[in-house]
Amino acid sequence: MLQKMSNMISYINKQNSVYRLKVEFFNFVNYTYVIVDKNSRQAAIIDPAWDSNKIISLVNELDIKLTTILITHLHYDHVNMVNVLLDKFHPQVYVSAKEIDYYGCDFKNLNAFNDFEIINLGNTQITCLLTSGHTVGSACFFMSDSIFTGDTVFIEGCGICATVGGSAEEMFESIQKIKKYINPDLRVFPGHSYGKIPGYPLRYLIENNIYFLIDKKEYFINFRMRENQKNIYKFV
Ligand SMILES: [Fe+2]
Repeated sequence: MLQKMSNMISYINKQNSVYRLKVEFFNFVNYTYVIVDKNSRQAAIIDPAWDSNKIISLVNELDIKLTTILITHLHYDHVNMVNVLLDKFHPQVYVSAKEIDYYGCDFKNLNAFNDFEIINLGNTQITCLLTSGHTVGSACFFMSDSIFTGDTVFIEGCGICATVGGSAEEMFESIQKIKKYINPDLRVFPGHSYGKIPGYPLRYLIENNIYFLIDKKEYFINFRMRENQKNIYKFV
């Protein structure tokens, strides 16, 4: 298990460490992340899905206290293990107020957050950044060294905007917001990978991800909503 666990470590700094879990169900593959605050041993999980055994094993092996669930958005593939973890660990659940208002949400221990609100995990501060576009109230969470982006941006592209409550115009604005507020040295941890291992610095996306490179809103909207996209995972 030690070897397996070391493969899951994305990074460790003075204050916290981040573990990456690849969780799968048939063709569905998501990444969920566990942030551990070093001193308090409190932990937050981001978008728990598909494989509760894998998640619970990690919590037990690390001997951490799972106090917090952070949700980037309410799509099923990002939240389907929330209730299992609620029953077992009784954490607080955080979803953006906009997302709750639009789609509805009845998780126990539910907390609504707004833009730039800070969630404390021991000595670790996690900031919520609203990034609508993939859904009405999608959010990213960032700390000193990392940003967790759900389906807003991937290393290779950005989330689809043709779903209920999606908006390519808002996605454009959200990407500009990420460029404006987030240090390019931060590592990016998305909800999915399409070839690149999560953890690339934001700088890499700014220089290579086509959705970061398009700086005219009209072009962006037309490109994001194009009909001749071979499949939704072919970003270019
Ligand atoms: Fe999604």
